[in-house]
Amino acid sequence: MSLPASRLAEGQKALAESLTARLRDLVFENRYSLHPRRLAQLGTELAVSFTRFLQDPAAGDPAARGEAAAREGVGPRSILAVAEAMRGFCRTLFEGDPARMGPALDAAERFCSALLQGFMQMVEALILQDQERLRRALSSALEKQSRDLLVKNHAVNTSINGILLTDLDGKVTWVNASFLSLWGYGSADEVVGMPLADFWAEDERPRAAEVLLSSGGWRGELVARRRDGGPFNVEVSASIIRNEEGAAVGIMTSFVDATERKRLQAQVIQAQKMEALGQLAGGIAHDFNNLLTAIGGYVQLVMERTPRDSRMHKDLVQVQAAVDRGTGLTRQLRFFTRQTAGVRTVISLNDTVRETLEILRHTFPPEIGVRLQLEPALDLVEADPNQLSQVLINLCVNARDAMTEPGQVRRGTLVISTSNAILAEERVGKYCSARPGRYVAVRVKDTGAGIPAEVQDRLFIPFVTTKGMRSGTGLGLAVVYGIVTNHEGFIDVRSAPGLGTEFELMLPRTSRARETAPSAPATGLARGRGTVLVVDDEQQIREIMSRVLVDCGYTVITAGDGAEALDRFGTGAGIDLVVLDLVMPNLGGKECFARLRERRGDVRVLVTTGHTSDGTAREMMQRGAVDIIEKPLDLKEFARAVARHVSAA
Ligand SMILES: Nc1ncnc2c1ncn2[C@@H]1O[C@H](COP(=O)(O)OP(=O)(O)OP(=O)(O)O)[C@@H](O)[C@H]1O
Ligand SMILES: [Mg+2]
Repeated sequence: MSLPASRLAEGQKALAESLTARLRDLVFENRYSLHPRRLAQLGTELAVSFTRFLQDPAAGDPAARGEAAAREGVGPRSILAVAEAMRGFCRTLFEGDPARMGPALDAAERFCSALLQGFMQMVEALILQDQERLRRALSSALEKQSRDLLVKNHAVNTSINGILLTDLDGKVTWVNASFLSLWGYGSADEVVGMPLADFWAEDERPRAAEVLLSSGGWRGELVARRRDGGPFNVEVSASIIRNEEGAAVGIMTSFVDATERKRLQAQVIQAQKMEALGQLAGGIAHDFNNLLTAIGGYVQLVMERTPRDSRMHKDLVQVQAAVDRGTGLTRQLRFFTRQTAGVRTVISLNDTVRETLEILRHTFPPEIGVRLQLEPALDLVEADPNQLSQVLINLCVNARDAMTEPGQVRRGTLVISTSNAILAEERVGKYCSARPGRYVAVRVKDTGAGIPAEVQDRLFIPFVTTKGMRSGTGLGLAVVYGIVTNHEGFIDVRSAPGLGTEFELMLPRTSRARETAPSAPATGLARGRGTVLVVDDEQQIREIMSRVLVDCGYTVITAGDGAEALDRFGTGAGIDLVVLDLVMPNLGGKECFARLRERRGDVRVLVTTGHTSDGTAREMMQRGAVDIIEKPLDLKEFARAVARHVSAA
């Protein structure tokens, strides 16, 4: 189509303006907001493309223009207006030139239809694309939501907190698995619809209902009632559930079982109490021991010089007996305070049980049957047989007393059994806790009256007794406790009023083999010759020891503390033995021992101590002390030890 280029250029400018104006008029019909400057560009681009097409139908590419417009977000009304304007442009341009008008309008029609087609195709493609994107977005959102729900659901269902949902009338609508197991129900169907009040102990009901229904949220502790009626403590946290408008629609309550925590708390308190008591009793026992050693020692010395048939001698025997009783008491107290390590050997508790029963049997009335159930392949333990025998005696005597009613025929059965036991996990007994491992268990079971409830919590405390001042001191179980704990074992008690009691002792088994028994000690104050340095800060103890040693034939030098001992010792020439106390002012026994050895490498030191269990005494043996003697001193044993070590010098 031959058109003068100048007219077309003119026309193109006017067309561009007209197209831009249409685009601007319909700017709000567009999919995206287009800047006015961009609209002017678009108008120009379309006008250029159209006029080119008019000149050469191979140029201008109307379909691509349509697609581009659609991509930019030009709306359908705008593109139609553009097409209309293009047709109008042709009509104006070729007005009065019918020969050109016809082909020009044809060309315009072709351009516009290609433009619109391109536009429509792109719009459809974009819609499809959009839909796909939306679908993907939606489906991934849905997927995430369902995953979230799944996770939440899982968390709620497997939570160790019991969770309970109720409506506003306090009727159960939903519970989780932990709730069911806490309260002892089998399935949610059993509880859905039940009133809240049914889950609480009688006197907690009004409080629970009020608490859970009134305030928006509440935390605290309540006594709950299990399905079987048994009470238990729960920590409660309740809150109102609201809908989107903020109206209350129900209540969510979560629960944690507080029984275990309470039990642990009680145990910690109990353990602390026993510890404090131990310290107190230990202090008293220590001072008392020293007094008794002094009194007893002097009494022995005076008795040696008093004619056996004199009145004085008889009185002294009474004093001696009282001292012995006192010593017995403090000895027991010291068991409780675990100051007595004893001599441990590898033993079978079956032997201890048999031997102890041999001693006890005749003190049991015939109406009380005694049965032994001993495990033949019982593991061995490392223990002091005398101490364990004491434990069994105390337990059996208690059992006998429990099966004895004053003025009535004595009846009942005592069963002592032994077995091997494996403790898989930490077991917290009522009074002490045990590490996992292999144990040997001894059970002493009676069919007696059972332990009164008010005594159960104080059972192992010294001087707790229900037997009255005359017949019981209340030290029996304190001693049991001390010895067993000292042997790294533990005790459990089961008792029901009227049905009887079972004490269970667990002692760690040893893999060591049995040793041969030591020979029995001889009797009589052993005599000897030599020089002994006696070091003790207690003047009375010092004197009694030197009196005994002088009487037995030794030369004695004394010192009141470690520093003085070093003075007296000098180079150690002529001193055959040093008797050394451990706890002293100025210079303690341990330090003093080290200095003595510096002065004389082969010095012989006999350690005396009231605390054999704190490890120091054992350490002294390792460092070369010749022996350890426990206080209160048994003078015969003391004299024997001195004689042995002086003669070995
Ligand atoms: N097997 C048992 N059956 C019932 N009650 C027991 C039993 N063992 C101990 N008890 C109760 O525990 C209390 C304390 O016992 P424990 O052995 O410590 O002292 P005791 O027997 O009263 O006096 P002691 O043993 O010093 O002579 C007893 O008085 C008794 O009330
Ligand atoms: Mg007793």
